[in-house]
Amino acid sequence: MNAAIDRRLAVAPMLDWTDRHCRYFHRLISDRVLLYTEMVTCPAILRGDRDKYLGFSPEENPVALQLGGSDPADLAACARIAEDLGYAEINLNVGCPSDRVQKGRFGACLMKEPELVAECFAAMQNAVTIPVTIKSRIGVDDDDAYESFVSFITTVQAAGCDTFIIHARKALLQGLSPKQNRTVPPLKYHYAHDLKAAHPELTVVVNGGIDTVAVAQSHWQQVDGVMVGRAFWNDPWLIREMHEALGFAPMQRDRDAVLTAYVAYCQAMLQQGLSLHWLIRPILGLFHGLPGNKKWKSHLVTEGPRRKDDVSVIAEAREWVKHVS
Ligand SMILES: Cc1cc2nc3c(=O)[nH]c(=O)nc-3n(C[C@H](O)[C@H](O)[C@H](O)COP(=O)(O)O)c2cc1C
Repeated sequence: MNAAIDRRLAVAPMLDWTDRHCRYFHRLISDRVLLYTEMVTCPAILRGDRDKYLGFSPEENPVALQLGGSDPADLAACARIAEDLGYAEINLNVGCPSDRVQKGRFGACLMKEPELVAECFAAMQNAVTIPVTIKSRIGVDDDDAYESFVSFITTVQAAGCDTFIIHARKALLQGLSPKQNRTVPPLKYHYAHDLKAAHPELTVVVNGGIDTVAVAQSHWQQVDGVMVGRAFWNDPWLIREMHEALGFAPMQRDRDAVLTAYVAYCQAMLQQGLSLHWLIRPILGLFHGLPGNKKWKSHLVTEGPRRKDDVSVIAEAREWVKHVS
């Protein structure tokens, strides 16, 4: 048995990207990768269109719902709704630095309020039997000393939380856009590594800038798992490569079989009135780095929006890629 097999692999929550179609596609690539929804706020769930925000296909399972909020009672209510719908984990967003999120007093600014995060965690965990986890940064603004980071973690741990996903850079709450906040502050992986070494009882998953199997492997030696965002979006087959590197049971489907299964899913979604435009986005990177990739993408992005309900656009685009399995 491969010693790496108890290590975790996750696709990061990404607003507008990891929607249900993207997750369905990623699940076809790996039956072991952990999938997270985009962040969904409590008001959206409690007062919005619940099917729009929480609907998912059973085939995506297991899926974690990422919540955005800071009201313990609201978070508990949302966690309960999610558990009833079949979600496998609830994750609290303590990493988003956008102005909108700060105005709502949640996301990354919650790193300044560890007691409140602990209260939110406890309220959610008391409301459900599925695991509740936290995704945080390593700090915000000038408050990014390792000691403050550990103090944040141990305060939340004292409420019972044992799983932390660490985006290993701080967030600057003023002056940087969310996009810049994913590139400008330097990555400090040692915060996550040192946390695991000091608290082996915690499950620590590291996130940020991981884009090759070799880099993931170096983290698996030090922490419990890796979460990957942009690199999986740009090159979804990297999920399969990491799945294999972890020694998980081999997946039978090659790229074409994944595509065939996804086209069947698209047909069902188009029958429900969805536009092809939304369905092609997750597959644009499927042939990343391979001959014909550019033409594959350009066919999809030009024809997809024009022929909104014609799934044969995908088979036509496939013709541009030289044969690969
Ligand atoms: C388009 C986009 C949307 C994102 N939305 C979310 C989100 O909803 N919740 C969250 O916790 N992080 C969000 N993130 C941050 C990612 O989860 C991740 O922490 C970040 O991209 C760093 O990982 P990476 O370098 O592997 O991409 C988003 C990132 C991107 C690129």
